[in-house]
Amino acid sequence: MSNRHPFHSLCPYFAMFPEEFVEHQVLTYTTPGDVVFDPFCGRGTTVFESLLHGRPSYGVDINPVAACIAGAKAEAPSLQSIFRRINELEESFTSDPILSVAPSPFFEACYERNTLAEILFLREHLQWRHDQVDRFIAALTLGVLHGESHRSDYCLSNRMPRTISTKPDYSIRWWAERGLQPPRRRVFDVLRNTATFRFRAPSAEIRGMVRQADARDSAASFPEICGKVRLVVTSPPYLDTTDYAEDQWLRLWFLGGAPFPELRKNPDDRHTRIDRYWQFLCEAWAGVIPLLSDHAVIVVRIGGAKLTKDDLFRGVTQSLRDAAESDHGRSVQPVHEGVTSSIRPREVRAFRPATSRANVEHDFAYELSYCPAA
Ligand SMILES: C[S@@+](CC[C@H](N)C(=O)[O-])C[C@H]1O[C@@H](n2cnc3c(N)ncnc32)[C@H](O)[C@@H]1O
Repeated sequence: MSNRHPFHSLCPYFAMFPEEFVEHQVLTYTTPGDVVFDPFCGRGTTVFESLLHGRPSYGVDINPVAACIAGAKAEAPSLQSIFRRINELEESFTSDPILSVAPSPFFEACYERNTLAEILFLREHLQWRHDQVDRFIAALTLGVLHGESHRSDYCLSNRMPRTISTKPDYSIRWWAERGLQPPRRRVFDVLRNTATFRFRAPSAEIRGMVRQADARDSAASFPEICGKVRLVVTSPPYLDTTDYAEDQWLRLWFLGGAPFPELRKNPDDRHTRIDRYWQFLCEAWAGVIPLLSDHAVIVVRIGGAKLTKDDLFRGVTQSLRDAAESDHGRSVQPVHEGVTSSIRPREVRAFRPATSRANVEHDFAYELSYCPAA
C-alpha cells in the first residue's frame, strides 16, 4: 500500500471502496480514454482511480460531503494556488477576526476557542461550491475536522473518531467523564501542512468531474457524456445499514449544514423495506443507462445484513433489467456469477450494530447491449 496515492485518504468515508478493487475493474473492462462513471461516488474512489489510469471519469453523489471530497480529487488545483488562497484567507482573518459565537455547547467542548474562530471563519468564507481551490481547501478541512487528536497534531477537535461524527450529547458526556479538553490548533498551518502532504505525489494528469446530484438524475447531470460511458463501477447504499447524513453531521455542518445531526435527510441512505430498495435501485439505473455506450459494463459492489448472495444477485439483475428494458430494450447479461469478499473489520464496526451484521459484500458485473447475446 506504500504507493497508494495520498489523495485517496484525504478524508475517510463509509463503505469506501479499496482502490485496488476499482483498479482491477478499470484494467479489465477499459482501455485508456474510455469513460468511467459512478452514480454513488462517495469520496470518489472510482473517479480518482480511473483518472490515475488515464480514463476520463465522472460521478454524482447526493451528499455534499461526498461531492466536496470527490470533486476536489477529480479537479485538483495546483499546490501553489492552494497555498496562495490559504495565505490570503489567513491574512484577512488576522486583520479582521470575526466575532465568533459557538453554535452550541457541543462546539465549545469540541474545539478550543481560537481554533473554533478559525474554523468558523473558513466555513463562512470558503466558496467550495463555486471555486475549485476553495473546494480543495474545504476537503482538506473535512479530513482534519475531527479525529484522534491525542494521536495526531493535525486533528482539530477534541478526541473523536475520524470516520464518523459522534452525537453532541454523547460527546460532551464522554469528554467530561475523562476530563478531556480540546487542543489549540493553528488551522491555517495545519492546512498548509496537510496540503503539502497530499501533494507529495503528482495529481492525475487528466481531470474528471463530480456533481452533487441524485443518481436518478445522472444523465440529466452529465448530458455531455450521454452514450459515452464504457464502465460503471459503483456501490449503492446497502439495505438497512447506515445513514450517511447523520453519521457525517459535523462535516455537513462545516459545508453549510445544520449544527446538529439530521436524521433521515436522504431517505435512500437507509431503505429498510426490500421492495422499496429494489425500486430505488431500478430508478437509479434508469438515470444512468442513457449515459452508457453499447456493450458497456456495470460493476456493482453490494451487501446487506439480511440478504444472501442469491437474493442480492436476483435483485440487482432484475432492477437492472427493468430499467434497461425501458431504454430501447437493452439486454443485461451477467459477466460472471459474482465475487464475494469480507468487509474490512473497521467498516463492520462502523455499521449500526442493532440492525446490521453484514460482514461480506458481493461484486456483480453485467454487460448492457442493444443486441441480445445469442
Ligand atoms: C456505499 S457509499 C459509496 C462509497 C464509494 N464507493 C466510495 O468509495 O467512497 C453509497 C453512497 O451513495 C450515496 N447516495 C445515497 N442515496 C443516493 C442517491 N439517491 N443518489 C446519489 N447518491 C446517493 C451516499 O451519499 C453514499 O455516498
